[in-house]
Amino acid sequence: MAFSKLSRSVEGRVVHITGAASGMGRATACVFADAGARLAISDLNEAPLLELEKELAAGGVDVRAWQLDVADKGQIATVVAMACDHFGGLDILVNNAGMSVREPIDSERYEQVWEKGMAVLLDAHMRLIRASLPWLRRSDAARIVNIASTEGLGATAGVAPYSTAKHGVIGLTRALAVELGPEGITVNCVCPGPIHTGITQAIPPEAKQKFARRRVALHRYGDPEEVAQATLSLSLPAASYITGVALPVDGGLTIRNA
Ligand code: NAI
Repeated sequence: MAFSKLSRSVEGRVVHITGAASGMGRATACVFADAGARLAISDLNEAPLLELEKELAAGGVDVRAWQLDVADKGQIATVVAMACDHFGGLDILVNNAGMSVREPIDSERYEQVWEKGMAVLLDAHMRLIRASLPWLRRSDAARIVNIASTEGLGATAGVAPYSTAKHGVIGLTRALAVELGPEGITVNCVCPGPIHTGITQAIPPEAKQKFARRRVALHRYGDPEEVAQATLSLSLPAASYITGVALPVDGGLTIRNA
C-alpha cells in the first residue's frame, strides 16, 4: 500500500552520461547503476570507459559504452542516435564531460583556448540536448541535468573561458527549462565546488586542505559520489516540479563570507 504518488526510482530508465570514464561522470554511472538504470556511457578517453563498462556489465548492469568527443558535432549526432536506438529510448541526459581551462587573458593562444573551452564546456551541452530531444520527448519523465560549476556563479582569476562557459551552462539550463517546461521536460544544473577528480588531481593535498579550510564551510573537498547523488535526485521521476535550478553541491563554498 502506497501513501504517496511520485516515484523515487530510476529502475529501467535509460540514462546517457558523458565524460563517464573518470571523476564525477564515473561516480554518476555507478550511482545510476546501483539504482537499476540502463546506462549509455560515453567519453573521449576510451580505455577507462571500456574498463567501467566491463566492471558494470560483470555486476549485471545493462550498460553500453561509446567513445565520444563532445567537441565533435558529427560524433554527437551519431553516438546519441546509436545509444538511443540500442536502448530503444532515452529518459535522462547528464551533460558532464569537461576539462579545466586555465589561460591568462594576454596569452597569444587565448582565442584557440577559448574556442576549445566553449566547444567542450558549453556548445556540447546544447548539441547533446538537441540530438537527444526527439527521444526525451517520448519519455514520461524526461530529465536533463547539466554539470556546471561554482565557477558559473562566481569567478576565479585566470580561468575566464571556463568561468564564462559555466555561466553559459547555467543560462542554457534556465532558458531551456522555460522553453521545454510546457512539454514536461525538466532542465536543471548542478554546480559542484572543489571535488576530488581528475581535474583537481594535480593540486597538491596541502593546497587543497588550505583552500578548503579558508573557503569551504565543511572544510574539505567533496567526493565525486556526493555530486552524483545530487544528479540522481534531480533525475528522479519525483523531481517533476524542479526545473531551471542551479544547485550548488559545494560544501558551503558559495554561502561562506568569512
Ligand atoms: P575528470 O577529469 O575526472 O572527468 C572528466 C571526464 O570528461 C574525463 O573522463 C575526460 O576524458 C572527459 N572529457 C574531457 N574532454 C572530453 C571531450 N571533449 N569529450 C568527451 N569527454 C571528455 O573531471 P571531473 O571533475 O569529474 O569533471 C566532470 C565535470 O565536472 C566537468 O564538466 C567539470 O567542469 C565539472 N566540475 C568539476 C569540478 C571539480 O572540482 N572537479 C568542480 C566543478 C565542476
